[in-house]
Amino acid sequence: MTGLVPTLSSRISWRLNLLHKTTQYVTIRAFKALRIPSRPVLPPLSSAFPLNSSPPRLVSSYSNKSAAVQMQNPLSSDDNLVILGIETSCDDTAAAVVRSSGEILSQVVSSQADLLARYGGVAPKMAEQAHAQVIDQVVQEALDKAQLTEMDLTAVAVTIGPGLSLCLRVGVQKARKIAGRLNLPIVGVHHMEAHALVARLVEKKLQFPFLALLISGGHNLLVLARDLGHYIQLGTTVDDAIGEAYDKTAKWLGLDMRRSGGPAIEELAHEGDAEAVKFRVPMKQHKDCNFSYAGLKNQVRLEIEAQSINAEIPISSTSSEDRGARANIAASFQRVAVLHLEEKCQRAIEWALKIEPSVKYLVASGGVASNKFVRSRLNQVVERNALQLLCPPPSLCTDNGVMIAWTGVEHFRVGRYDPPPPANEPEDAQLDLRPRWPLGEEYAEGRSDARSMRKARIHQSLTSLIQASLLEQPKPTV
Ligand code: KG4
Ligand code: ZN
Repeated sequence: MTGLVPTLSSRISWRLNLLHKTTQYVTIRAFKALRIPSRPVLPPLSSAFPLNSSPPRLVSSYSNKSAAVQMQNPLSSDDNLVILGIETSCDDTAAAVVRSSGEILSQVVSSQADLLARYGGVAPKMAEQAHAQVIDQVVQEALDKAQLTEMDLTAVAVTIGPGLSLCLRVGVQKARKIAGRLNLPIVGVHHMEAHALVARLVEKKLQFPFLALLISGGHNLLVLARDLGHYIQLGTTVDDAIGEAYDKTAKWLGLDMRRSGGPAIEELAHEGDAEAVKFRVPMKQHKDCNFSYAGLKNQVRLEIEAQSINAEIPISSTSSEDRGARANIAASFQRVAVLHLEEKCQRAIEWALKIEPSVKYLVASGGVASNKFVRSRLNQVVERNALQLLCPPPSLCTDNGVMIAWTGVEHFRVGRYDPPPPANEPEDAQLDLRPRWPLGEEYAEGRSDARSMRKARIHQSLTSLIQASLLEQPKPTV
């Protein structure tokens, strides 16, 4: 959790309050000093709009015109926005308040660790109930810790995808309730974009373009971030993500899952010999940037069976010999799982530099990027290529509200937000949630021929939506 900071000055709060009470955006121009855009300059991302109200236009095509249009940015870097971010896409209920200066005013995360430990994975219905139980408290605590009231907010940002729709709904409903009551604009956020962009809050000198490796429980992405809202997907997983492999390995080794499987494996691996079990590195024959962890998971399962390790006996009460065997498997698994990351990152760096020779950073983010072994191995890869590795601190790598609020800041600044929802929106309004929502367009050279590649797509990628909307903007007048 982040420390507290002084309250906003009452003058600013008053102005913001007034601003929010006015009929939608009309009188906002009177408060130019605050540099709030008087209306959305660019169409919103997608929005958490109910499908039965008039939704923002969503068009598809792909182009590369972002730079010119982003010059219309209505806000300068000294703007003073205060954004509440809400995240409920998976098993953590999180909220945070962030200023556009990058100052984190508060950060609150309520995790469903007990549920995870009990069920060994995320059960959507249970996760939804757990979010619903704590969401009000988590948001209130974030506001209290920031020493703010809802009235001090400029906008609300919320994850609208990808993730479990039952879970996304809880956060989106809460965000819309607050935004509707206070007449606040709302920013619909892509969860994976948020994992990448939070690195720009941490490191102010991180400019586009940069390369990002996003590694979590459900995603394994290598993306070239060319600009805000413009991502090229160099690689993804053809089956499982690395975090899923960590979690299952931990479960099968009888580890304490209360902090999720990743940290438990990382810790146990220190005791083991990483060369003890010769697991095969996945996808060696594929000269692309895609990942596969299902096969490695299976290798681990077979090894555990072969060594007759009984996960019913928790590691805390097993013999030292058995503990040693488990530690060897943990260390050997981790070595190969990360070697797979290293190999694909090496290729992605080569591809990225071909497309954008000015790339200087590899951002590693998502829960697995909080792992010290992962960080040190990736660091060696980037150093070999004369790049720098940038990893947000662990509390910003795992799911959190700060990354959502910050992504809200980034998009709000360029005018990508939705107008306030109606104050009396019915509880059962149909919401635009995006459980499967790609971040970028696939790099043509990187297309996988791996047969199991998941193809199902419900929504157009964030990048294609934004690029299409940019194309439709009138040319900036200079
Ligand atoms: O980004 P995240 O918090 O949630 C998702 O969006 O999925 O990532 C959660 C994943 C889990 O699989 C968890 O086991 C893994 O990140 N994780 C770790 C570590 N901390 C969290 N994996 C390896 N080492 C860690 N220290
Ligand atoms: Zn995540």
